[in-house]
Amino acid sequence: MAGKAFHLGWFLQGSSVQAWGEPWTGNIGTEWMVPDFFIEMTRNLERACFDYVLLEDSSYIGESYGGSREIYLHHGLSVPRQDPSVVAALLAQATKHIGIVATFGTFAYPPYLLARLVATLDQVSSGRIGWNAVTGSSDYAARNFGLDGMPPHDTRYDIADEYMEVVRKLWGSWEPGAIVADRERGILVDHTKVHAIDHHGTHFKVRGPLNSGPCVQGQPVIAQAGGSPRGRQFAATHADTIVAMVKGTAGMKAYRDDVRARMAAQGRDPDRCMVLFLVSPVLGDTDEEARAKHRRKLATTEDQIAKRLAHLSKITNLDFGALPLDKPLGSLTTNGHQQSLDEFLKKAGNKTLREAAEIYSDAGSIPLIGTPAQVAEQMGAAMEEIGGDGFLLSTNDTSRRVIAEICDGLVPELQRRGLARRAYSHAMFRDNLLDF
Ligand SMILES: Cc1cc2nc3c(=O)[nH]c(=O)nc-3n(C[C@H](O)[C@H](O)[C@H](O)COP(=O)(O)O)c2cc1C
Repeated sequence: MAGKAFHLGWFLQGSSVQAWGEPWTGNIGTEWMVPDFFIEMTRNLERACFDYVLLEDSSYIGESYGGSREIYLHHGLSVPRQDPSVVAALLAQATKHIGIVATFGTFAYPPYLLARLVATLDQVSSGRIGWNAVTGSSDYAARNFGLDGMPPHDTRYDIADEYMEVVRKLWGSWEPGAIVADRERGILVDHTKVHAIDHHGTHFKVRGPLNSGPCVQGQPVIAQAGGSPRGRQFAATHADTIVAMVKGTAGMKAYRDDVRARMAAQGRDPDRCMVLFLVSPVLGDTDEEARAKHRRKLATTEDQIAKRLAHLSKITNLDFGALPLDKPLGSLTTNGHQQSLDEFLKKAGNKTLREAAEIYSDAGSIPLIGTPAQVAEQMGAAMEEIGGDGFLLSTNDTSRRVIAEICDGLVPELQRRGLARRAYSHAMFRDNLLDF
């Protein structure tokens, strides 16, 4: 099968103890503090010509499940987790082509600080930085930043809209060509091309200009993951790439069609934003080996059910530990990740919480199980049905071995079918992202 090439991203679940307790993770429990694993991994992803690696983040320790930090700390669920800006800088230093997307919450960083931080990363990476713009969703996180709790879900996006306006103005506060570096006339910067922004809005008051100088890309790449209608509207307004977790090819197609229609309605060209769907391939030397691996992943011990529900609790702020496991769920609402809860409830139907947890997994938008050749075919067929634009790969058992399976097994099979790039065409991140 030959088809149209699509884009590939890697979703790194924070700079943290990746895959604690999983096989083939070496001495990760003690070696996670040094960046060797992340660096080797990103170099491998670059060798496989991935568009980007996205560093997930949230700046708090989970506490929603059972009203305690115990399960999160005991199993290393998103903790310990390092500051993504430091790791992004190290990854940029160790690579030359791949895009690096760091997550920063709009509730946590004053816009000036964020604009300067991202501009600096864009400069030191020679134009390869993206920002995953998240609004945050947890009251525990809010309390680390002087707030009593998170504003209501849709209000967070309203605030973030103004936030985006401010940071974009700051990134634009240096006109192209402002740095003249003219030795003969002794002029470094043409002061007439650097402007204050004097923003006085509903939520922010910022003078500018940015003291760090301009981004290499002009504006850095913006990534977003809004799943609710308000979130999709925000993503359609601002994002160069949208990352999404939607179950099934029909739902994925509908999601992509929806954000593209929202872009067009605002006068944006829908082809200027790449929608990447989260998937978690399970690869084996034979089909049977891959299926056995998949069965092991789905095993539902009490511990695993609790871990899955703890993850869901963390992103929805709901205490699933307090609900009876053997009763149907009923209706639930959240001020956290609305779309994730909706997807969970949709799949649960009339099932008990235990049964729902048994089928709930982070395995991604569609199952991809088989040999590298089989999975490459599955990805190609799904993409053809959805219409584009690519996949965001992630696994719960990320190890050097898993990365080798992807980069040396799966990606060459995609390349052979014309479904993945064989070389980067451009120096900068956005140019590669929008190349096809
Ligand atoms: C692939 C993917 C990655 C995400 N990464 C982060 C992240 O790093 N930090 C974060 O706070 N939220 C993250 N989110 C959550 C989104 O920002 C958003 O809150 C969520 O998708 C629910 O959408 P909604 O808020 O519009 O309901 C991610 C979501 C998805 C699907």
